[in-house]
Amino acid sequence: MNDSSNHEGVSLQVRGLRKSFDSQEVLKGIDFDVKPGEIFVIMGPSGSGKSVLLKHLIGLEAPDAGEILINGESIQSADTSEKYRLAMVFQSGALLNSLTVGENVGLYLTEHRLKPPAEIQKIVSQKLQDVGLADAINKTPSELSGGMKKRAAIARALVIEPQLILYDEPTSELDPLSAVVVGEEILKLKERIGVTSLVVSHDRDLAFGIADRIAFISEGRIVAVGVPDAVKHSGDPAIQKFLRADFKPESQTKHI
Ligand SMILES: Nc1ncnc2c1ncn2[C@@H]1O[C@H](COP(=O)(O)OP(=O)(O)OP(=O)(O)O)[C@@H](O)[C@H]1O
Ligand SMILES: [Mg+2]
Repeated sequence: MNDSSNHEGVSLQVRGLRKSFDSQEVLKGIDFDVKPGEIFVIMGPSGSGKSVLLKHLIGLEAPDAGEILINGESIQSADTSEKYRLAMVFQSGALLNSLTVGENVGLYLTEHRLKPPAEIQKIVSQKLQDVGLADAINKTPSELSGGMKKRAAIARALVIEPQLILYDEPTSELDPLSAVVVGEEILKLKERIGVTSLVVSHDRDLAFGIADRIAFISEGRIVAVGVPDAVKHSGDPAIQKFLRADFKPESQTKHI
């Protein structure tokens, strides 16, 4: 991690990304650009390759072909991965139950001895306050609700002063009100620190509520990219099917 004088969001470019597992081609040539400070949502059905794509961005998977660039520099080069600060908010939250919420949030700084303990305390309190969790600092993750866990995971991502935050399904398992709170946190961070946000989600309300632009992924390909309204009105059948999916009981009133 370099010094945190540069807080601005970075740009992200993904070019021709391909990935197969055995005979299954999961990513079939993914291309998109995210602008600095933008909230870019990749929306698509379960199994379309969203998490696999995110894993490439944080180096957990290596592509069969293609390239990922941050501010125009390939992340395959060690220099680039050192130079920019990326944080990931995992679908599960990935908090350690043996530690308090405060210790979880400060873990990266403590483990790498990046700051003196008193300063880490201050940073942790500030980040928890930023996500409305100041009171939960001494609780353990198991004592938090699902929505609080997601916000704690966001606070943990914030300690490195990220220039790009990646979110994997930030609203999954949340009730609609908690989902709105998490969406608002993502929006606030964009406004307050100008971070670039890449969100993968199958939550239609979240995508249309917070995205500057949406890319729709279907079976390993991006089939449309644009501002929310443009994606909503796209003629692509996979998008229309996804957006119209609703529970429709055969008869709603007959049996009352
Ligand atoms: N390590 C792996 N080995 C083999 N297949 C994998 C691996 N990781 C993912 N896959 C497969 O890749 C496909 C896409 O998975 P992925 O987790 O990216 O879906 P997703 O779009 O994130 O779905 P969801 O919305 O349910 O989270 C799935 O068919 C999955 O089984
Ligand atoms: Mg996933």
